[in-house]
Amino acid sequence: MPENEINRESAIVTLPYQDWSATSPSSIDAVAALEQGKVLFFPHLAFNLTEAEKTLLTPELVDPKRKNISYQPEQQKLTGVAIEGKHEAVQKLLARHHRACQALVLSILPEYRHTLHTPTNSLRLHPISAWKASNSWRKDDTRLHVDAFPSRPNYGERILRIFTNINPAGENRHWRVGEPFPELAQRFLPRLGRYSPFISWLQDKVGITKTRRSHYDHLMLQMHDAMKADLEYQKNGPQQAIEFPPGSSWICFSDQTPHAAMSGQFMLEQTFLLPVAAMKTPQNSPLKVLEALLHKPLI
Ligand SMILES: [Fe+2]
Repeated sequence: MPENEINRESAIVTLPYQDWSATSPSSIDAVAALEQGKVLFFPHLAFNLTEAEKTLLTPELVDPKRKNISYQPEQQKLTGVAIEGKHEAVQKLLARHHRACQALVLSILPEYRHTLHTPTNSLRLHPISAWKASNSWRKDDTRLHVDAFPSRPNYGERILRIFTNINPAGENRHWRVGEPFPELAQRFLPRLGRYSPFISWLQDKVGITKTRRSHYDHLMLQMHDAMKADLEYQKNGPQQAIEFPPGSSWICFSDQTPHAAMSGQFMLEQTFLLPVAAMKTPQNSPLKVLEALLHKPLI
């Protein structure tokens, strides 16, 4: 085992579910594992597409100006479909995927059923290699990072993501996951730039952000960038490789679990936000970890 490889069991929990509305109770406390920053891996949880839906699996379907097709189920708002006449089929697929994710939350994360909010799901059709080739290092998700939204400050709210590999040709999605958040924060905090309330105010005023960036949002974005810019950390930092085959799904708090998507194509993804107060262990949230290290409130 290479020196920088973290223990697989400390990073990944495997669950046997085959059904999005499974009722069989698992002995594993899924919420506790997620809140510790682990990835929940469901090797047999497939999202089956109809023959007609399989014809949608082509990168040409995505608006060239966008990374993915995305859907806000509560507003029934679909964006990023480039081919005329395909909107209805894509919307139906994503609405059905959203309902499956809601059912999964009810069955394995029932503690969150009333508090997860602002769902958005995405249909990701480009191979990771194509996205990496045409973008800057900041947008290169083959580098380990934690998620932070540049234009949408979230004031400490958690980013919960459910992923499913729908590759029709048998190609795995290959990830790396990194160290626990408290260790990551201690490593990078000393390098992060100062927060300026004035610059945050200005960025909001001119429309760079949708609301004013909090100190927390500033630190998370800085950490995202500092991780990606550190090639030594990328190569030799603590990490574990994982393969997600077609027909498998996985869940993590992507603001907490360092992750890198190395290769793969065709995926469905559902994002929810969760207030820190709705967690069973709020002290595990990036917000509370950073506040404890800095001895001050950050929002
Ligand atoms: Fe990410």
